[in-house]
Amino acid sequence: MRRILIFGATSAQAEATARLFAMDGSRFFLVARDPGKLAVVADDLRLRGAVKVAVAAADALEFERHPVLVDEAFDVLNGLDVVLIAHGTLPDQKSCEQSFAATRREFDINALGVMSLLIHVANRFERQGFGTIGVISSVAGDRGRQSNYVYGAAKGAVSIFMQGLRNRLHSSGVNVLTVKPGFVDTPMTAAFPKGTLWARPQQVARGIYAAIEKKKDVVYLPWFWSPIMWVIRGLPEAIFKRLRL
Ligand SMILES: NC(=O)c1ccc[n+]([C@@H]2O[C@H](COP(=O)([O-])OP(=O)(O)OC[C@H]3O[C@@H](n4cnc5c(N)ncnc54)[C@H](OP(=O)(O)O)[C@@H]3O)[C@@H](O)[C@H]2O)c1
Repeated sequence: MRRILIFGATSAQAEATARLFAMDGSRFFLVARDPGKLAVVADDLRLRGAVKVAVAAADALEFERHPVLVDEAFDVLNGLDVVLIAHGTLPDQKSCEQSFAATRREFDINALGVMSLLIHVANRFERQGFGTIGVISSVAGDRGRQSNYVYGAAKGAVSIFMQGLRNRLHSSGVNVLTVKPGFVDTPMTAAFPKGTLWARPQQVARGIYAAIEKKKDVVYLPWFWSPIMWVIRGLPEAIFKRLRL
C-alpha cells in the first residue's frame, strides 16, 4: 500500500501504472487538467481497489500552484511515498522551428513544468528521508534528432535534472527514477503508423511499477530500448549528422 501523487494522471501510461498500484490498495492524489477525464480515472481506480482517491484539476503551466498542490497531496494522504510526473506534449517540430513562442511553450510544459514540481517534491522528500520520485522522460532525450529535437531537448533537460537530483538525494534515502520509454501507443502518438518497436501502455506500466518497487535509477521501457539507445548514443557525430532521423 502506497500513498501516491500523480501529475498527468489522465495520461495512458500513468493511468495504466496507477491501476497496478490500485490493486495493492494504494491511496492516490491525482492531478490532471481535465476534470471530466480525471473523475473517470478516479472512479476506475476505486473499483480496482484503491483505498482513497483524491483529485485536483490543474494545468502543468500553472507554476504558482505547484507547491500548493504538492502540500495538499501530503496533507490529504497524510504523507507521500511515491510521486510520478507523467504529463507531456509531443510538439509539432516544424512549427517550433519557425517560432520561439511555440518552442518555449513546449519547454514550459515538458521541461520547466516538471522541474518546478520536482523542486517542491524533492525538498519535502529530502526532509522526510524516504520515498520515490519518478518522471516519465523519453529515449528522445538521449540524442537530438532533426525530427523531434525540441521535444528531445526538453526531455534531455529533465533526464539530466533527474540525474543531479538522484545524486543529491541518494544520501537522504530518496529514490529518483527516470523512465525512458520508446514508442508507446497512446493518445499522444495516435497519428503515427505503428510497427514492431511499439509498446502498449500496459506493458510500460508494468515496467514502471517494477522499477518503483525495486528502487531503480533509470529504466528503458520496453527493455530493448536500452541496447538501441546505447548504439544511437555511441554513433560518432560525423556520421550521425548525415542520418535522416
Ligand atoms: N507515447 C509515447 O510514445 C511516449 C514515449 C516516450 C515518452 N512519453 C512520455 O510519456 C508521458 C505520458 O504520455 P502518454 O504517452 O501516456 O500520452 P497521453 O496519454 O497523451 O498523455 C499525455 C498527458 O499529458 C497531459 N498534458 C498535456 N499538456 C498538459 C498540460 N499543459 N498540463 C497538464 N497536463 C497536460 C495530457 O492531459 P489531457 O488529457 O488533458 O490532454 C495527458 O494526460 C509524457 O511525458 C510523454 O512525453 C511518451
